[in-house]
Amino acid sequence: MRLVFFSLTGQTRRFINKIGLPSYEIDTTNPFHEINEDYLLIVPTYDKEVTEVVNDFIEYKTNQEHLLGVAGGGNLNFGDLFVFTAKDIAKDYGIPLVFSFEFSGTNDDVKNFKKVVNEFESKRSD
Ligand SMILES: Cc1cc2nc3c(=O)[nH]c(=O)nc-3n(C[C@H](O)[C@H](O)[C@H](O)COP(=O)(O)O)c2cc1C
Repeated sequence: MRLVFFSLTGQTRRFINKIGLPSYEIDTTNPFHEINEDYLLIVPTYDKEVTEVVNDFIEYKTNQEHLLGVAGGGNLNFGDLFVFTAKDIAKDYGIPLVFSFEFSGTNDDVKNFKKVVNEFESKRSD
């Protein structure tokens, strides 16, 4: 399973690099790429204008069919707005919010997110 992510300032990219699984970074200048395999989406949190490339990616060709879940990166200082982008995506596309973390994630975040990914892998092979 692939990890598809978006990153504006590099925090989410650093998190994904620490996970060390196959990934695909959404290209902000051209999000229209068909992924053709199941994936988890990892998104940082910004205003809608910034993250609409993620919606463009999800809605391109068959990409929505392969979207299994979403994880959110953010900053807890934003209070109730913590990881709202991932929460909105979960609601809008009817998929689970599987994980949240701050910035590029702690060592525990890396460990726990890997567990989440493994759980999805084993569910798929049931
Ligand atoms: C302008 C701006 C607005 C942000 N708004 C939120 C927010 O509403 N909620 C939140 O949890 N994090 C918010 N963040 C924090 C980022 O989502 C967080 O730093 C994230 O790790 C950035 O990921 P990236 O470097 O991959 O783009 C904001 C950051 C910036 C710079």
